[in-house]
Amino acid sequence: MKTNLSSTTPSQLETDCLVVVVLDHSEVHSEDRREKDKPAPSVECDDAAVREAAKDVIASGEVSGKSFETTLLHNPAGLKAKRLLLIGGGKAKNFSAAELRKLAGTAVRTLKGKSIRNFAFAHGGGSGVPSPFAVRAIAEGAIIGDFYPGYYKSDRKNKDEKIDSVTILVQKGEDQKSAASALETGRIIGESQNFARDLVNEPSNLMTPTILAERAKKMAAEVGLKCETYSTDKIKELKMGAFWGVAQGSDEPPALIVLRYEPESAAKDVHLGLVGKGVTFDTGGISIKPADGMEKMKYDMAGAATMIGAMRAIALLKPKVKVTAVVCATENMPSGKAQKPGDVQIAMSGKSIEIINTDAEGRLILADGLYYARQLGCTHLVDAATLTGAVVVALGYVNAGIFASTDDMYERFAKANQQAGEKMWRLPLDDEYRELIKSNIADMQNSGARYGGAIFAAMFLKEFSEDTPWIHLDIAGTAWMEENKPWIAKGPSGIALRSLVEFVKGWSA
Ligand code: BES
Ligand code: MN
Ligand code: ZN
Repeated sequence: MKTNLSSTTPSQLETDCLVVVVLDHSEVHSEDRREKDKPAPSVECDDAAVREAAKDVIASGEVSGKSFETTLLHNPAGLKAKRLLLIGGGKAKNFSAAELRKLAGTAVRTLKGKSIRNFAFAHGGGSGVPSPFAVRAIAEGAIIGDFYPGYYKSDRKNKDEKIDSVTILVQKGEDQKSAASALETGRIIGESQNFARDLVNEPSNLMTPTILAERAKKMAAEVGLKCETYSTDKIKELKMGAFWGVAQGSDEPPALIVLRYEPESAAKDVHLGLVGKGVTFDTGGISIKPADGMEKMKYDMAGAATMIGAMRAIALLKPKVKVTAVVCATENMPSGKAQKPGDVQIAMSGKSIEIINTDAEGRLILADGLYYARQLGCTHLVDAATLTGAVVVALGYVNAGIFASTDDMYERFAKANQQAGEKMWRLPLDDEYRELIKSNIADMQNSGARYGGAIFAAMFLKEFSEDTPWIHLDIAGTAWMEENKPWIAKGPSGIALRSLVEFVKGWSA
């Protein structure tokens, strides 16, 4: 999908479809319920001809402006566009770039099914989103909306009705340079998010640890990142006993992937480390999972995919800060070689771990990943992992869990989050929870808490990030969309990539 800018007046633009946002400006003043519920929709476009073309359908009451409501008009009077699509954006007072991003995705998903191959998106009016932010959000949202997960359908070509190009309209007086750079940023981030979603969407037979490493390597060569990939020998040589404990049960060799972004001028004394959980399939191991829903465990490498995708965006956006990604990839399988409950593993840091449940494997591989990132010199760490079912119990499918070892790290990440329009909610890491990880035989156990499972897992990781400022993202509930949404397809979401990239940019010198 191509994205471009135009400063043509919306009504004068020749396109298959002009898309404009309708916001509900009603305010709750009246005590009268009927008055209160009455929407006051208005078209957010500075071009009077566009507002005029939508006047009748709005007056009819058919259009309320509620979120994701779509109304398609053909041959709109006074416009050169063949069609006019009105998309509801909800209450004007709640509108932001995050909504706009979703509306762009909605436009793509609505129009691609109608054999429309190009459209133009006009923003403006009273939406209140400053133009560069709007341009970027529209580009990101449109690209994210264009992702089609039906990879292995034999008639994929017919079903995947791609949009060829999206034109984002900016006003004539606007700073064209900043609009162009916002478009470029949005395109890089949207495409990197789809790159990560691509990796997650693949089934585990076609996305082994070795294949994941090859894909990372290929991407690195394309964008100019350094990439090293290792397997069993190196993992043993580094004494990554926790990682190997999981990997030993599989016939597929594990992969340790290191991606390095080292800009010439960079912030001093800052070296960010991104650590990803790359379990390409999680059967649970000897503590095997029930069959129902197990197929979903191909997405247990979403944390790894997010980090690899984030590195792609970072390499292209070139922030002035050093970043290293460490990805631990393996299958978690039951076999004659698999680790068993009660086994004790010695992690790379030297700490001993009693394995209570072999299904709590993510924290084991991350234990060594986090420690290794510190060994490589990382001063600040972020990990992303589909780590616990418990985070889904706590936060459902809406918010990812965020854990932070310091308030400063949290505040930086929360700010990035806000900008990126991703929902995450902070969970605690109080010392009192440490009790939970005590083992009778070793320094700690990998499972055991009856309640607070997401916190338990985070406390376990904290033993390996130690005093290095650290953020842990538990994306088990958010890495996979359970349903189709107007703005995004059912399947891999690419969660956390946009926040990560924004977070990294925040450290740029
Ligand atoms: N990969 C799972 C967590 C998960 C659950 C991801 C649902 C996506 C959706 C993880 O490895 C796991 O199995 N966690 C266990 C831990 C338990 C055995 C302590 C869990 O959450 O049940
Ligand atoms: Mn598991
Ligand atoms: Zn897992």
